[in-house]
Amino acid sequence: MEVIRVPGVMRQTAKGHLLRGRTIGFVPTMGALHRGHLSLVSRCREENDVAVVSIFVNPAQFGPSEDYQAYPRDVEGDMEKLRAEGVDVLFIPDVDGMYPEGFATYVEVEGLSERLCGAFRPGHFRGVATVVTKLLNIVRPTRAYFGLKDYQQAVIIRRLIADLDIDTEMVGCPTVREDDGLAMSSRNLYLSPAERKAATVIYRTLCQAEEALLSGGKGFAEVRSLMERGLAGEPLVKEVQYASLFDPWTLADISSMDANIYRGRTVLLAVAVVIGRARLIDNKLVEVPGVDQVRP
Ligand code: PAJ
Repeated sequence: MEVIRVPGVMRQTAKGHLLRGRTIGFVPTMGALHRGHLSLVSRCREENDVAVVSIFVNPAQFGPSEDYQAYPRDVEGDMEKLRAEGVDVLFIPDVDGMYPEGFATYVEVEGLSERLCGAFRPGHFRGVATVVTKLLNIVRPTRAYFGLKDYQQAVIIRRLIADLDIDTEMVGCPTVREDDGLAMSSRNLYLSPAERKAATVIYRTLCQAEEALLSGGKGFAEVRSLMERGLAGEPLVKEVQYASLFDPWTLADISSMDANIYRGRTVLLAVAVVIGRARLIDNKLVEVPGVDQVRP
């Protein structure tokens, strides 16, 4: 595995592969790698001639009171995992390499960035969109892999790739979970054993809401309050930032809409909660049964 720390060197290496007609697959990460990340890496490895992974804890996507300093870092452990996956190139730029003095240009994906997490993390998606645009310009991947665990991030990146005519195919990958359903996340490391157990309420609540939608009968507003009550009922949940139903394309909150409008279509159930010092998000896509498909 080649380890590259300088953006210019990464760019030249990528250019060399492209000139030889090879496809480049790319998985951008912030490190502290778990099986969720590695599922993206293994798919990237399978589908491309050259697999590139980046590790960069991007200061631009953390708010001033967020966990940039505390964010888990384990470069040695990560390297071992990536070598075992057969990754060709690891790109680990430093902050000065990505944001040199005088840096002044940001990418803003309007509308989509203000919804869900955007309302609680101002500037977050501007930071994500900016760094992802930079990384895609440096690595110039044929395909880039993103997890649907961060559903809003995936939608925003799909939008920016289309809007800025970036020559990369965006591949969305399913959420990898622990045995008890908790979505894998680097931030799960912040949880105490009791909090870790309490965090199972998130996926349980999503499954209950899905069940309520599949069995028909309940309106969207009712499903939403079922989710809110389910999460708030867990004493270790300090805050429910949102728990609702959204349009999977526009990310508009649709909890006040008539469920009939979404019959035969897909809705996004998404939640963000704070447990201990971890802010955790999760989501589930659910196909609302058509008029003739309501389960008995
Ligand atoms: P990070 O949180 O490290 O995640 C890197 C990629 O792994 C993202 O595409 C994320 O959606 C995916 N991922 C995380 N947990 C997952 C899980 N349980 N199952 C499947 N995929 C999962 O997301 C970021 O970093 C950053 O915002 C980044 C895109 C790198 C820009 O800085």
